[in-house]
Amino acid sequence: MNPGGLPLRRGLISIKDLTKEQIEAVLSESAKMLNACQCGADVNYLDNKIMATLFFEPSTRTRLSFESAMQRLGGGVIGFADPSSSSSMKGESLADTVRIVSSYSDIIVLRHPMEGAASEASASSLVPVINAGDGTGEHPTQALLDLFTIKMEKGRLGKLKVAVVGDLKNGRTVHSLAYALALFGNQILFIAPKKLQVPDEVLSGLSRRYSGMVEKSESLESALDADVIYMTRMQKERFASPDEYGLFANYYSINRKFLSRANDEVILMHPLPRVGEISPEVDGMKNSVYFKQAAYGVPVRMAILNMIIGQQSGIV
Ligand code: CP
Repeated sequence: MNPGGLPLRRGLISIKDLTKEQIEAVLSESAKMLNACQCGADVNYLDNKIMATLFFEPSTRTRLSFESAMQRLGGGVIGFADPSSSSSMKGESLADTVRIVSSYSDIIVLRHPMEGAASEASASSLVPVINAGDGTGEHPTQALLDLFTIKMEKGRLGKLKVAVVGDLKNGRTVHSLAYALALFGNQILFIAPKKLQVPDEVLSGLSRRYSGMVEKSESLESALDADVIYMTRMQKERFASPDEYGLFANYYSINRKFLSRANDEVILMHPLPRVGEISPEVDGMKNSVYFKQAAYGVPVRMAILNMIIGQQSGIV
């Protein structure tokens, strides 16, 4: 049996499609994958499978960790990182591209600038589609690796005060993470400039589904007593003009002085890339876990791929 018996079989478009139990199953399989990799165990569960990565927007972590995950599982990888090398440049629709690639592969990992693109792609695909970021919409596999990091570093997933900081309007990682944090009963503090606060539709989605505490602030000082500080960058590519981006580019920055005033046990996370909001001078501090967080992308994505297209995890 596939571990967890997940609806993941259809792919992964939104974190909202998963129950708490299903997320826990992903995290449990991720821990097994991490352990298997560390022990050098044979995990060739997908040795007859092919993953296609269709990236219409830039990526370092998501694409390469998916590709690393698939190769560690013994599978093959096809795809493109530069859409200008694909026939989308000749005017081919996303639906047609996905329909064709789904006849060459067993699973598609899609990043696209349009919100809703993964859902649209899923409708024309013959194989499961994973949303690797759809515009300002969601980034569900990032949320899963974020939760995995919190569990590994804090020893639990609930009853934490999590300060989420930065461009919360445009940051898709935050939109997925907020639902996941709320599902596990955490207190969420959204810290952003007023113009870049978390969208009302995300807030109303949270209040419809969960009873947990959600607060808003503009001040980084309100994160000082948090258990987790989740920094994000200002999403330069989503601003209307360079001038508008310039107004917010250096709005928040965490340095050694700030961290020394924060909760001693706080963990500092970031989906990366960072562009100034975390000073490299804190990289060596015990609180800084963002490089570990990025590394967890591989075992978490191994678990996700295996739960969607594997026959059996076999990991004990
Ligand atoms: N965190 C993340 O999505 O990074 P990339 O844009 O490099 O994939």
